[in-house]
Amino acid sequence: MATANPNSNNFSQSLVLFGALGDLSLRKLLPALFQLDKANLLNDDTRILGLARKAYDVTDFTQDVDNTLAKFVAADELDSAVKQRFLQRLDYLQLDMQDTQAYTNLANKLADWGPDTTFYLATPPSIFGDICSNLKAAGLNGNGSRIVLEKPIGHDLDSSKVINDTVGKYFAEEQIYRIDHYLGKETVQNLIALRFANPIFADLWNHDHISYVEITVAEEIGIEGRWGYFDHAGQMRDMVQNHLLQLLSLVAMEPPSRLDADSIRNEKVRVLEALKPMESSSINKYLVRGQYGDGEFKGQPAPGYLNEPDANTASQTETYLALRADIANWRWAGTPFYLRTGKRMSSKTTEIVIHFHPNRHHIFDDDQAALAENKLVIRLQPSEGIALQTLTKEQGIDKGMRLRRDPLNLDFAQTQGNVRIPDAYERLLLEALKGNQSLFVRRDEVEASWQWCDQMRAAWENSDSPLHSYPAGSRGPQAADDMINAFGHRWYEHC
Ligand code: BG6
Repeated sequence: MATANPNSNNFSQSLVLFGALGDLSLRKLLPALFQLDKANLLNDDTRILGLARKAYDVTDFTQDVDNTLAKFVAADELDSAVKQRFLQRLDYLQLDMQDTQAYTNLANKLADWGPDTTFYLATPPSIFGDICSNLKAAGLNGNGSRIVLEKPIGHDLDSSKVINDTVGKYFAEEQIYRIDHYLGKETVQNLIALRFANPIFADLWNHDHISYVEITVAEEIGIEGRWGYFDHAGQMRDMVQNHLLQLLSLVAMEPPSRLDADSIRNEKVRVLEALKPMESSSINKYLVRGQYGDGEFKGQPAPGYLNEPDANTASQTETYLALRADIANWRWAGTPFYLRTGKRMSSKTTEIVIHFHPNRHHIFDDDQAALAENKLVIRLQPSEGIALQTLTKEQGIDKGMRLRRDPLNLDFAQTQGNVRIPDAYERLLLEALKGNQSLFVRRDEVEASWQWCDQMRAAWENSDSPLHSYPAGSRGPQAADDMINAFGHRWYEHC
């Protein structure tokens, strides 16, 4: 049997998965739970109850989970003894999530599972409120209960407040775990170590030394059958309001006094609250919106956004955004943060680039002055690592003092001996089961992010902000280069 988790004081005995037959559960959550079991990170008595509307029994559910593991866990990781142990943890209950009476069955089922239950709502946010109220009516919101909410928490500030208020009526903030899966990624965690465990970076991390910061989240995928959802969201709500602003807040926050959830989240929210609002009058200088048109991806024709299945051909929704954000505080005064994110780009890249100021006095050949800045590249995807771009002398007797840029490269796969990098959901599920909220988003963070994004959206809606077309499979619109260049800066790939 699995070894009990050493930190198990607070460990949830059971996980109840609402929407257990949905895409997220089958593709991500159940494989992640299997991996936790394999790493002996679940307790011996941890049980998993799947809930969905379908008239299934535990045998059908177990069969579906078995199939999903075969599909989403690499064959060499699918240890059969662990799989048997994992499948035995499963149970299933057919449930209409909006039917209050039906929760009696859930309460009966959980009666002998122990009081500490984590409820994971892998469902549309529109029913979060009903589920929470039904859990309360069935007496399932006791102190040992936790509730995990998937994004999106609303589509603007007002709707997010409604969701937060409703959930907050039944569960205290300390019981609520709002997911932003980027916070579970290994390198995002590493940002905290990099910034606060290394004095050389800690001392340089401010506007005196950093000229600008770039955060890029480029995706290869397009809309993947989610046109209906995405067209109401756009890249601002789908990616900027959550993932990019979470990355920004981790890069920019002050050192927390401790590593506990509230110390970290207090500092993150201060950054979000210090973001300068955007005005309609300057929006075209600070923001570029794009939408992918027909193009080519990996040698194959790729349809534009408006030619995807189910498309509304008049849609003006952005699939790409590049923008300049400014943080109005002492540390970052005068240091812009450029964010860019797009769907159907040429490659999947998630990286943060810290551009340091060049030396104040340049003693090498003038034509090399443009080379003369250090950059710290923090790669999250596809491969995880950190590289410091340094300047060295070109080798060779005939090269004089010609400079070249060479990376001091830290590839985690090499330095840490190909340790398996866990999927973000593995870490987040584990931390929720352990009752550690530091990797989850607090209500005030969600609301500060919405406030800034809503204001930006209003600014572009009240202006003549154009929607630039870019070919599917490309780097995005030229206007994004023009925007950053106008401030005297360049995207990393052009440096
Ligand atoms: C999700 C968005 O939150 O993040 C998706 O809804 C996006 O549209 C995904 O594709 C990106 O996540 P990752 O981990 O693949 O970068």
